[in-house]
Amino acid sequence: EGVEAGARLNSAGLDLADPLAVAELGQAMQRHAATPWQAAPLLGGFAQAGAARPVLDPADRRRQVGEAVWATPEMADKALARAEAAAADWDALGAEARARILRRIADLYEENHTELMALAVREAGKTVGDALAEVREAIDFCRYYAARGAEIFADSQRMPGPTGERNELRHAGRGVFLCISPWNFPLAIFTGQIVAALMAGNAVLAKPAEQTGLMAAAAVRLMQRAGVPGEVLQLLPGDGAALGGRLVKDARVGGVAFTGSVETGQAINRALAARDGAVVPLIAETGGQNAMIVDSTALPEQVVQDVLISGFQSAGQRCSALRVLFLQEEVAGRTLEMLAGAMAELRVGDPGLLSTDVGPVIDEEARDLLLGHDKAMTNDGRLIARTPLGPDTEQGTFVAPAAFEIDSLNRLQSEVFGPFVHVVRYQANRLDRVVEAINASGYGLTLGIHSRIDSTVDYVIRRARVGNAYVNRNMIGAVVGVQPFGGEGLSGTGPKAGGPNYLKRFAVERVVSIDT
Ligand code: NAD
Ligand code: ALA
Repeated sequence: EGVEAGARLNSAGLDLADPLAVAELGQAMQRHAATPWQAAPLLGGFAQAGAARPVLDPADRRRQVGEAVWATPEMADKALARAEAAAADWDALGAEARARILRRIADLYEENHTELMALAVREAGKTVGDALAEVREAIDFCRYYAARGAEIFADSQRMPGPTGERNELRHAGRGVFLCISPWNFPLAIFTGQIVAALMAGNAVLAKPAEQTGLMAAAAVRLMQRAGVPGEVLQLLPGDGAALGGRLVKDARVGGVAFTGSVETGQAINRALAARDGAVVPLIAETGGQNAMIVDSTALPEQVVQDVLISGFQSAGQRCSALRVLFLQEEVAGRTLEMLAGAMAELRVGDPGLLSTDVGPVIDEEARDLLLGHDKAMTNDGRLIARTPLGPDTEQGTFVAPAAFEIDSLNRLQSEVFGPFVHVVRYQANRLDRVVEAINASGYGLTLGIHSRIDSTVDYVIRRARVGNAYVNRNMIGAVVGVQPFGGEGLSGTGPKAGGPNYLKRFAVERVVSIDT
């Protein structure tokens, strides 16, 4: 099933192998580099004034990308009251009208893709390839949810019943949905949550990550241009605990879509459980401790390529990224030799250059945590290989990709959110222990398997409790409508984003029985 029935599947994006397209993109990105981007709370369609905070480029902290005003708790209260008042009319507008607006958002994102890409590069430190994928995914979410929503929410479903009675199953929005998103997909996840909630007939309060308010503001401006009323979608940039933490406690919030760390997901879950009043849904997509299993039948060159992509693309700052590489003892030495060689060739540096493979991590706090982990592993004699940093990295928050050898997965207590791969060797006859260790971690997001033995692949897939398994390929970059994405256990509640069951969780079901 495609993003739009009968039309092409997923957005086309840009061909980065086409020199003309790349030259045009380069010029556009340069123009946008000079844009003084602004973010502010948007209440009822109007920007609110306040003290502006500088937003700095992760690749060069001397460079100011723009300014962001954060919302106050009083603004959050006002926004909530307006959203509550606006929700019923938005719901009554009907599914097809809402779907048309979602399609218009997709078109506007496509028209403004270079600006959005430039923001992803400069505010979030994404490489050009990642920035392109980011915008495409956001467009795909809009078109996919528009298509699915028009199907699910448009008509009431006639239920069987006795003669003289008509029974109809209908859907309605839940009122006000709070969407809390992370910095690592500042457009795609931000947009995906919001358009799903809107499509289901909810008014939305959007709380983006502290680090990526500029992208959030640019996206909301485009959504409003596409026809989303100012009261129906309001933007609240600001502090997670002070703003998000306060909003989740408010009984006027009818549901929460959250993507971020396990710890924050658990805090939100506790806050919702402690609320008086209605029990409301939490759709949580959280972290992973993702493994790849490689046996002796795997193709070594392909394994190395897929480890580089899965572990180091996006500087490892994907929930789906590879963290623990299980290598069968017999092939471990040779695979690691090849991996070290390939890692030496990666280019770490300015994400705006097409030649860059690995950009910066998001900020100083992330860099310092990662450098601490690197130091502890290295002091313990566990370093296998480390990619040298490029010459243009001194002013940014860069972390060198590294591979470490550890004795077991449970040595990692929590998600290490950066460009590090941890290698564990295993004995061919103890694959059961590998799967047990993966399950025992409690996380269940992505898993990679490289093996040419069908029974091995089947054994792992049947037993591993993970949301998305990838066989003989890399394990990142799930495609909307093709690989519905999301985990289980500590990794999330489901339903999967970009999948056929996502939208219904944002709605209530109602039945009307009519005596005819
Ligand atoms: P985070 O948990 O620190 O923040 C996420 C959002 O929650 C931000 O908007 C933040 O301001 C807000 N927040 C923080 N404390 C809050 C509180 N007490 N109450 C309400 N809101 C609060 O996560 P992050 O650092 O922005 O993102 C990285 C994490 O996201 C990683 O753990 C990654 O694995 C995860 N992630 C998961 C998926 C997925 O689909 N499973 C996708 C992307 C990222
Ligand atoms: N959906 C993103 C991926 O698959 C997180 O990498």
